[in-house]
Parts: sequence; structure tokens; C-alpha cells
Amino acid sequence: MSIGFETKNEILKTDKEKNISKKFYIESYGCQMNFADSEVVASIVSNHGYNSTTNLNDADLILLNTCSIREKAELTVRKRLESFNKLKNNNKNLKVGVLGCMAERLKNKFLDEEKIVDLVVGPDAYKDLPNLLEEINEGRNAVNVLLSKEETYGDISPVRLSSNGVNAFVSITRGCDNMCTFCVVPFTRGRERSRDPKSILKEIRKLVDSNYKEVTLLGQNVDSYLWYGGGLKKDFKKISDLRKKTSIDFSKLLKLVAESFPKLRIRFSTSNPQDMSLSVINTMSNYENICNYIHLPVQSGSDKVLKAMNRQHTREEYLTLIKEIRKAIPDCGISHDMITGFPNESAKDHKLTLDLMKQIKYDFGYMFKYSERPGTYADKKFDDNVAEEIKKARLQEIIDLQQKHSNYRTMQYIGKVVEVLIEKESKKSNIQWSGRNQQNTVVVFPKGIYNIGDFVDVIINDCTSATLMGLAIDYSKK
Ligand code: 5AD
Ligand code: SF4
Repeated sequence: MSIGFETKNEILKTDKEKNISKKFYIESYGCQMNFADSEVVASIVSNHGYNSTTNLNDADLILLNTCSIREKAELTVRKRLESFNKLKNNNKNLKVGVLGCMAERLKNKFLDEEKIVDLVVGPDAYKDLPNLLEEINEGRNAVNVLLSKEETYGDISPVRLSSNGVNAFVSITRGCDNMCTFCVVPFTRGRERSRDPKSILKEIRKLVDSNYKEVTLLGQNVDSYLWYGGGLKKDFKKISDLRKKTSIDFSKLLKLVAESFPKLRIRFSTSNPQDMSLSVINTMSNYENICNYIHLPVQSGSDKVLKAMNRQHTREEYLTLIKEIRKAIPDCGISHDMITGFPNESAKDHKLTLDLMKQIKYDFGYMFKYSERPGTYADKKFDDNVAEEIKKARLQEIIDLQQKHSNYRTMQYIGKVVEVLIEKESKKSNIQWSGRNQQNTVVVFPKGIYNIGDFVDVIINDCTSATLMGLAIDYSKK
């Protein structure tokens, strides 16, 4: 935090110095990317003089980093905004800002719809926050929702919020060009662009030097990472052969990170079936410190639905990819995203989804009812014609099936030894640690002589569908 020089003359104070006693509070909704972005925002706002607070009542500025992915996510934010009315009545100087996907989707309309909001900032405009904050502090509303072709915030050093000092997110790409017909992300986060590998390595170096033990490389579509000196992914075709040869794709980036930081655990999210290459899978299997876990959304098991979703892969191609993964990394944890009740999804399509799940037996998954998003292709071209009751029943069916498969998967660990990185105290017991194995399954075990941030071998002796239980192996006693 920078402290300005003392001056008796208020006029000589910079904006930064005027804010020195001000506090901001930030809350994030939605995907991991939003949580990572909030750390960028915290860095920008802190450098502009504000101190962070975790107490809403102390704040001069409340920021909500919002999600638009489903209608429910937006309703949650609207309710939260409503709850700030009382605070604002008590403190006339309190300012409220909306960041992220909802800001981008609703733009100026937000100010009309939610009178409590003073500030609206889209995901690519956070560097403009110092100017926007000056605007609102002078009593005017402020909006910046410009999307960018270059912005990756590679030069910003994120402020780690509510961190355990062990795991951190590092964003590597922004935006998405996939245009799945149900998805609002390409509209709210713009075109796909990759971050300079040098700035990625620099950020990770800083984390390693601060004793962090695990990073998750983040992007809407990490497999599509491509650095050729900056610019949009879609413009790669236009560059010279020489630049193409020296470009860095996701498998090269993974290799670079794994080799530069051999003691660091590396995860990544999210992968897309059509973009995931065999070289990524091989790199994972070649490096011990890249976790054997892939989150591989599929969304449906029916080719008819996949086509209507513009998913760019068939059921068969997806199954082949899973086979390749299991061949190269037999103990790989695999999870999915699934949507039920997409327009025109029939009972037969739903059955195909259940059948695909039965073939794969995912370790776990994230399952959703289709939610029509304004402005998407599906909204414009298809009728949201699967009745709510049917969506609900189908969702329950896939959740129940997943529960069975998760149980099957966790049972396979009984009697086996897994490597766990300790992250925190178990929620259920203050004498147990909680961490994850490589495959991203939660493991709890008695604390013993260990500490947060330790890697421990744990022998598994019990499980639920979501958690493994066991005992740490104390090699010093052997
Ligand atoms: N309705 C329901 N689920 C959605 N997702 C994205 N858009 C929608 C929508 N309109 C889900 C997908 C995606 C995950 C992040 O959210 O499964 O992979
Ligand atoms: Fe949305 Fe599809 Fe891009 Fe994921 S890959 S962010 S679901 S458009």
C-alpha cells in the first residue's frame, strides 16, 4: 500500500491520496475466472489508495463481481444489491459498483434498473477503475463496458483475497470464441486472447517465492491458449510461418510451467473437448507435478443436442478423447458439466446423456437446468420448450446417477495411498485436515504432525461419494 506525502493543501493531493482512508469490500459470484479477476480489481483499487475490508459495514465502496451464466445467478446478485439499501441509507457516501458479466450484459440499463448502483464496469475495463472511481466520488454515475482485443491484465500483480497461502489461480486466457448457442460468455467476456507466457511465469514465480504449493491455470478455454506475440486467437492464421513456428500453445505452456517449477502442483481449467490435443494429454502424463485431473464439459450425450448447441464435437469424438486420456493417464480424475432440458431435448436425447454418463462414470460433475440467456443464438432461434417439471426431473435423474458414479469412484481408492496437499482444517472436525488428491477429490485425515501446505501420503480407509477419509503415513516411524 502506498502512502502519500504529507501536505496541508488539499488541492495538491492526488486522487490516490484523497482515497487513503477509504475502504473497499469485494464479493465475487460465478466461475473461478471471476474470483481471479477480483484479485486484479483489488490490486488496481488498492494502488489507487483504497484499503480492503472484509466487513461490509466499514466499506466506502462495495463491489460485486457478477455472473450472468444462468438467470438464477443474476437473481442472486439483484437480491444482494437490494440488501445494500439499508447500508446506503445509513451512509450517504457509500458507493456501489457492479463488475463482471452482468455489468457487460446490461450496461447502462443497470443504472436504470437498480437505482442503488453507482458504477458499472465490464470484465475488460478494470484498468479504468481509478478514473471511474473519481467520477463517482464527484457524484456522477460511471460506466465502462468496452471489450478489448488485447487486455489480459498480464502486467497487474493480483492481490490474493481470502487466500490460504497454498492454492492460487493464474489466468492465462480471456474470452471465448466457441459460441456454444446457450452461452452468454462470448458476449460478456469477448473474443479469445492469450496472456504473455513471460508474465504468467513471473506471476507463478512470485507465488512460489511466497510458498504457494499449487496453481490452477485459468481460462474459459485453456486448450485454446496460443501466444504468438499478442492478438486474437482468430488472427493467428494471418501471421508469418516463422512466428507460427515460435508460437506457444497450451501443451508448450504446461511443459514450461511444469519444468520451471518442479515442486509446484499444476492444475488447469476449463478444457473443451474439441480443443484438447493429444500433446496436452501426453504432457500431463510426462510431468509428475501436473495433476491427473481434467474437467471436460460435455453438456449432452446426444449428437442432435450437441449440434444444436454448436459444440463442435460429437458424442463419439468425446468418448474417443476420454479413451485417449485413460490410455495415457489411467488414474486420471474426470469431471463434467451437463445441461438438461435444452430446447427440443427429447426423452431419447436425455437417455443418451444418461447412457454416456454410464459409459464414462465421471468422478464428479456440475449439472444444470437449461436457462435461456437473452441475446444468445438459442434464445433467438429456439423455443425454450422443455417444461420446467421435465427439466427438473431430468436434472434429478442425472444428479442421482452422478452420485452413484462418484460413490463408485471414491470406493476405488479404499486401501490405496494418495498424495494430498493440505489446504485447511476440515469443516466437520477441528482435529482433521482437509486437502485434495491429484484427481481433485477431497481427502480428510487426522492432523498429526502436519501443517497447511504440506504434501502428505494418506492411506484411504473410508469414503462418502464426495470425500475420502484416511490416515497419513508417517515415514519417519518406518
Ligand atoms: N443454462 C444452463 N447452464 C449453462 N451453462 C452455460 N450456459 C448455460 C445456460 N444458458 C453451464 C455449462 C457450462 C457451465 C460453466 O455452465 O454447463 O459448461
Ligand atoms: Fe460458453 Fe461454450 Fe465458451 Fe464454455 S466453451 S464459455 S460453454 S461458449
